[in-house]
Amino acid sequence: MMNEFENDLICENLSVNSEGHLCFAGLDTAALAAKFGTPLYLMDEDRIRANCRAYQAAAKAAFGEKYRILYASKAAAFKQLYRVMSEEGMGIDVVSEGEIFTANASGFPMEKAFFHSNNKTDTDIAAAMDAGVGYFVSDNTEELSALEKEAEKRGVFQKVLLRLTPGIDPHTYEAVATGKVDSKFGFSIAPGLADDAVAFALSLPHIQLCGFHSHVGSQVFDSDVFLRTAEVMLRFIAHAKQKYGFTASMLDLGGGIGVPYIAQNPKPDLAGIIAEIGEKVASLCKELEIEQPEICFEPGRSIVADAGMTLYTVGSVKTIPGYRTYVSVDGGMTDNIRYALYGSAYTILPALKMREERDMIADIAGRCCESGDILQRKVSLPRSTARGDLIACLTTGAYHYSMASNYNRIPRPPVVMLRNREPSIAVRRETLEDLTALDV
Ligand code: LLP
Repeated sequence: MMNEFENDLICENLSVNSEGHLCFAGLDTAALAAKFGTPLYLMDEDRIRANCRAYQAAAKAAFGEKYRILYASKAAAFKQLYRVMSEEGMGIDVVSEGEIFTANASGFPMEKAFFHSNNKTDTDIAAAMDAGVGYFVSDNTEELSALEKEAEKRGVFQKVLLRLTPGIDPHTYEAVATGKVDSKFGFSIAPGLADDAVAFALSLPHIQLCGFHSHVGSQVFDSDVFLRTAEVMLRFIAHAKQKYGFTASMLDLGGGIGVPYIAQNPKPDLAGIIAEIGEKVASLCKELEIEQPEICFEPGRSIVADAGMTLYTVGSVKTIPGYRTYVSVDGGMTDNIRYALYGSAYTILPALKMREERDMIADIAGRCCESGDILQRKVSLPRSTARGDLIACLTTGAYHYSMASNYNRIPRPPVVMLRNREPSIAVRRETLEDLTALDV
């Protein structure tokens, strides 16, 4: 069983060295764990940059100069990541005052930021305008009124996209589906709410309506979902032109392209999907006799997921005869809530024993006081797995650090970026003092 692991090296940034250690971005995970401790989030910065460039190249081939790629920062947000996005010429999607503050503090050019959220408070709106956020993606009428008021007060014209719900079911898991008619997000097209929103936005003197936004779901593999969304949205643009004489200069098709977490998942052909969307957009614009708007994409997961890995140290291996074996690690739902929340599949590997036969099936348990704190069930590991061994969970770059918590007062792990085979700390490990910093 010498090469049992090969199937599990699901991204090119993974390899196994002569000692049988898992390597990430060319670096030995054993050495990284020894240097930075565990649990540890690793982020392969070269991979993030390559993913940004792949999107840009695909969009350029499909849309010429009329495209924008906005990194959806909810997937992972910290200053160094925003610096990378800035250097790679990316725009960003931000959804809170916290993301705006972080991006701005990193020196990100905020005119390239698009502010989402289905409930922007007056404080959020003022903070976003203070920071010079370029575009608001407006979700509801109350928000449009609040934007108008704030823009009038400042004597500015605020660029706005309207978030529309195109009524597309993306066949993804319920919690990440957002584009159906019954959604907390946006103005639904079918029942006429989108029409009213356009009329209202056009009536506001300090609002500059630029176009429309949609995001139908996350972890989507089927290009048909994006093609159907593009069609609904372009037909709405043609309708708005006819009914209100409004020409949309921008169409944001959201994020959502999926990534493989396990060897059995499909590997989406990014360039192929974007090329298909490009052809669809061009032919529909011709058919509908509308000018082709600038097309935006807002990927989060597909920019950072495969750039991430989490390393854990095993604390115990407990076999309950006739039932199962639990391997407990020093992290858990505090650094990875996704299995508890969505039952998400992961590839979990014995980072120090990659060349050993994996002849034991175990559930990987976290350290929180909660039975549901499981990282993955039925994982194959070597029978020799014991306290002190290193466990790697792959594809943890998206929605891990950003969804981490301090449940049980567990400090959050650091984020170490790997670039040109050099590790550097992008977010330091939380300390016990950090945990009490807010307590009076
Ligand atoms: N744009 C909008 C408006 C979104 O709501 C999202 C994700 C994205 C872009 C980026 O989607 P992506 O390319 O990352 O799929 N916590 C969940 C994912 C929630 C996604 C929410 N919105 C998870 O861990 O899978």
